[in-house]
Amino acid sequence: MADESLPLEHSFNVESNASPIDPIDDKLFSSESPSMSRRQLLNFLTGSVVAITAGSILFPGAKFFIPPSEENDSGAVLAKDIHGKPIPAQQILANPPGTRALIAGLAGEPTYLTVQEDGTLSKMGVVDNCTHLGCTFPWNEVDQQFQCPCHGSRFAPDGSVQRGPANRPLKLSRVWVDGDAIWVAPWNDIDPRTGETPWWVNNLNHSQPTDAGKTELAKETIKLNESLSIATTQLSPNQLKQAAQAGYQSVLNLRSPNEPGFLENEQQLVKRAGLQYAHIPVNPAQITDSLTDQVLATIDQLKEPILIHCQSGVRSGAMALIFMALHEGMTVDRVLSTGQQMGINLDAQPQIKQFVHHYVDAHRQAYTAA
Ligand code: FES
Repeated sequence: MADESLPLEHSFNVESNASPIDPIDDKLFSSESPSMSRRQLLNFLTGSVVAITAGSILFPGAKFFIPPSEENDSGAVLAKDIHGKPIPAQQILANPPGTRALIAGLAGEPTYLTVQEDGTLSKMGVVDNCTHLGCTFPWNEVDQQFQCPCHGSRFAPDGSVQRGPANRPLKLSRVWVDGDAIWVAPWNDIDPRTGETPWWVNNLNHSQPTDAGKTELAKETIKLNESLSIATTQLSPNQLKQAAQAGYQSVLNLRSPNEPGFLENEQQLVKRAGLQYAHIPVNPAQITDSLTDQVLATIDQLKEPILIHCQSGVRSGAMALIFMALHEGMTVDRVLSTGQQMGINLDAQPQIKQFVHHYVDAHRQAYTAA
């Protein structure tokens, strides 16, 4: 995002340059699903080539978001194929050991199943969703790795990270065969790769004692990637100091000065800590395209890593997810699901969630062409 060669004041405030804020126009919103991005298409094509050369079974990723309807009382679902039909176990087990078969698992998540040396299916399904920024990835038979084409992350056959930027193992699903049916269920037990509670379970339960030892800032921060984090609160003077100590280079404040608890001297405190500062007031009831254009352009110019904050993390989360969707070629559904896994939930603010859909749909083509 940040380019050292770009001229950027050490600290700036774009409030005075902001365009007049227009009410959100409901007519602008589209309920249509976004089309497959260039990156997803690339992922799919890359995966297909690997699948063909490796003799593995691979179904087109774009078809994987058909929610399965067959479900048992404990939330397990039947593994489905490209047409949303249950896949007979024999169809996959007829393939040689080492075969990776991509099926639609929980909530339609693309999930890799593995045929083991003894001709059975591994109980560990590996979810095809890179833990860096959510790209899908192929299995490379030659290197015996899952290889993410977006930023080069590499994962071992069990989904452990072998090379970043991803820093968390791939999500697992529990898999078993019953008769000729393949069942897929959430993996909520200890993660056998780490010996700890899985990160996706911790993300669902923020009361876990994983905050122990974290700084006051880290407890209120969600790191989306190496460049971008959001704070879920108004940062205190102490947290601003901690931001500098934690290695952040910039702070972007999306709060309006008239909001309760607005920190009047935040700009001075941030500058004193040696960080860049930008302030773009975003009224949650009046988010517009032009205001969002300004926020994204500012993120592009600030030095990384950047810490964005508002009051609760909804505005900053929405802006960060829009930025990720456009820059990483992710669909809105995928970026919202990735955000939710990380703890950014926009469900409580449906108008903001709707705006994320609208903005990404309206600007996708321009970003793809750029
Ligand atoms: S490395 Fe996979 S999304 Fe970035």
